[in-house]
Amino acid sequence: MKTSVEKLVAGGRDVDEITGSRRQRRMRKADWSRRLVQENRLTVDDLIWPVFIIDGENRREDIPAMPGVQRMTVDLLVREAERAAKLGIPAIATFPNVDLSLRDETGSAVLDPDNLINRATRALKAEVPEIGVITDVALDPFTSHGHDGILRDGIIVNDETVEQIAAAAVYQAAAGADIIAPSDMMDGRIGAIRDALDANGFSDVAIMSYATKFASAFYGPYREAIGTQGLLKGDKKTYYIDPANTEEALRETEQDIAEGADMVMVKPGLPYLDIVWRLKDTFQLPTFAYQVSGEYSMIRAAAANGWIDGERAMMESLLAFKRAGCDGILTYFAPEVAERLQG
Ligand code: PBG
Repeated sequence: MKTSVEKLVAGGRDVDEITGSRRQRRMRKADWSRRLVQENRLTVDDLIWPVFIIDGENRREDIPAMPGVQRMTVDLLVREAERAAKLGIPAIATFPNVDLSLRDETGSAVLDPDNLINRATRALKAEVPEIGVITDVALDPFTSHGHDGILRDGIIVNDETVEQIAAAAVYQAAAGADIIAPSDMMDGRIGAIRDALDANGFSDVAIMSYATKFASAFYGPYREAIGTQGLLKGDKKTYYIDPANTEEALRETEQDIAEGADMVMVKPGLPYLDIVWRLKDTFQLPTFAYQVSGEYSMIRAAAANGWIDGERAMMESLLAFKRAGCDGILTYFAPEVAERLQG
């Protein structure tokens, strides 16, 4: 008497007939063969490290919502940058947590040539010239309301914000920034920054456009990191892109490129890999993604609970960016990943 399995096998095709003797598992059989056919690789050259800076000296602060990430004073940042450079990390992106007394309605301290960002840039360029410095020109670290623009009568005013951001970009370039990365999503900012940089003799300073920045829930921990969490009234939906929209993201990117963006970024990262792929496929420009604070903290939190293997999830998430077409990734994991890749 035949078992039901035997009957099924007798009645149907055997596997070789189904696959035509093609076997996808052949090359998966051993570590050596898997390595041989691996299509994408993460290297230290893919990493940009976002860091949080504070005023003072020799001080670090934990950020409870981002375990493993600390705010640092400029002197300590310089030491960390030396370590990052030794690990081969190409660039650092700086984000300031500005003293509340220096924040106002228009974010005027962004125009101070000696503000925290500019002091950090000068120190980094003086002491660790081999690492690239990427500065953010948005107003949110400097405004008393946590928005990325100037707020008047409940509205984020576009053109006035753009003028201020373009001027701030010139101070950042003067301090030594290699790449200006506007994260504010105002219309016309890329062209205005390019003009201002060129007019002031900084034609070699590049622009990384946060071309597609979505109005996302994944920025939560970052707002704790730079201290805008309790300040922000309302949301950023009148200037960031609706998470539902792809074509709008393509139009925004096309415009930023026409205005002079040298490289484009997608933010957040992992939930938006389809956008990364579309941008790379459409524009063939250096394309980056920002694995934002919420993405980082989710991996850390799940790992801390023993629900996932944090290290493997970290590496897998970053490899996914490469597979989607990224030239590089901004990630808070950068030093840890670099150490792993080295060792
Ligand atoms: C705002 C800005 C944001 C991030 C960097 N700059 C978003 C926001 O606060 O709305 C998010 C970075 C992260 O979540 O890691 N200009």
